[in-house]
Amino acid sequence: MKLKKIELINFRNYEKLELEFSKNIICFTGLNGQGKTNVVEAITVLGLLNSFRTQNYSDMIKFDKDYFLLKGIFFNTNKRSIEVQISYDKEVKKILFQNKKVLRFSEIWGKIPIVYLIPDESVITNGPPSSRREFTDKLLSMIDAEYFAALNSYNKVIKQKNKVLLTAKYYGGCDTEMIGIYNFKIAELGSKIFLKRKAFLENFLVYFKEILSFISDDLYTGDINYETVMDQKKYFESLTQKLSKYFQTEIKRGTSLLGTHKDDLEFEINGKLLRKFGSKGQHKIFLVALKLAEIEYIKSVTEEYPIFILDDLYSEIDERKSLKVAKILDKDIQTFITTSNSRIIEQLDINITQLFRIENGSCAAV
Ligand SMILES: Nc1ncnc2c1ncn2[C@@H]1O[C@H](COP(=O)(O)OP(=O)(O)OP(=O)(O)O)[C@@H](O)[C@H]1O
Ligand SMILES: [Mg+2]
Repeated sequence: MKLKKIELINFRNYEKLELEFSKNIICFTGLNGQGKTNVVEAITVLGLLNSFRTQNYSDMIKFDKDYFLLKGIFFNTNKRSIEVQISYDKEVKKILFQNKKVLRFSEIWGKIPIVYLIPDESVITNGPPSSRREFTDKLLSMIDAEYFAALNSYNKVIKQKNKVLLTAKYYGGCDTEMIGIYNFKIAELGSKIFLKRKAFLENFLVYFKEILSFISDDLYTGDINYETVMDQKKYFESLTQKLSKYFQTEIKRGTSLLGTHKDDLEFEINGKLLRKFGSKGQHKIFLVALKLAEIEYIKSVTEEYPIFILDDLYSEIDERKSLKVAKILDKDIQTFITTSNSRIIEQLDINITQLFRIENGSCAAV
């Protein structure tokens, strides 16, 4: 997937910006606070419909304006053009896909794959289990509509069950029949989610292991283990059994205590837990390998390379590793890089790079 043209109106600190992209590497440079991340945020919103910085579309409207508009023209591998337009006026969010109004998020979700690596994402390797689940859930949802649907239904059931449990805790008189129905759905949907996550992990690990050892010059071996209190060989039975065992405890506590939403991924580097023993640099390289593996995995499933966005982080890995990352990205992957580091710019191959300088909400080709 390639982004050919983008237009921003009243988006963050841009009043109006139109850019055309003709090369594979697009680098935005400029001093801090000028609007580099804002541009790549706009690209992400066009592809994924949400931002990596905020849940609120209103945050993205330029201060003192009352709407924003984003337009993008993408081309997929088959050279078919895809037009997306998003506008928001503090009340109505309007999304046009190929000039047709999109009514449901799921209609276009996953059609424009984007992988991004932003500084905040260090939580994937050193944050709580929810960050690692989110990594898998987001990726799988983007490429597997069934997973997306199962996950949404599962989360809805958990929410409904928690409501009933909370009411029972404070007002007594629990609807145990209803909890039984919820528990069955949790086991059914939970085991479906588990099986899909396991199948994904098996394929994903092949790419991940190879990439990590490549960029670290065989210094690091990596592994990812699925962690759950359930018996992985009989997940459905095990979850059903545990849900019935904790039936009364959950009512007493007023919340659901177990299920697939508590499972975790454990990251290992050279056989040791990254979370406990990893150095700062090891965390970073692990994260970069996760993202590059994500790109290869998406390509293997959808036959389409996603667009890759590297906000700042590129400057934080050492030169030798950066060159190795560049080698992987060489495979016709459109990559947007933001940096305020001039040394990074010197390293870029000018034959395949488009360079833009950003200054206070205006952007000019260099
Ligand atoms: N809704 C908005 N309307 C207008 N300006 C905004 C809005 N949201 C953020 N900004 C401004 O955008 C600027 C930040 O832009 P951005 O995060 O893209 O900077 P950057 O170039 O990536 O900087 P850094 O190098 O520090 O990461 C800030 O000056 C901020 O005040
Ligand atoms: Mg920035």
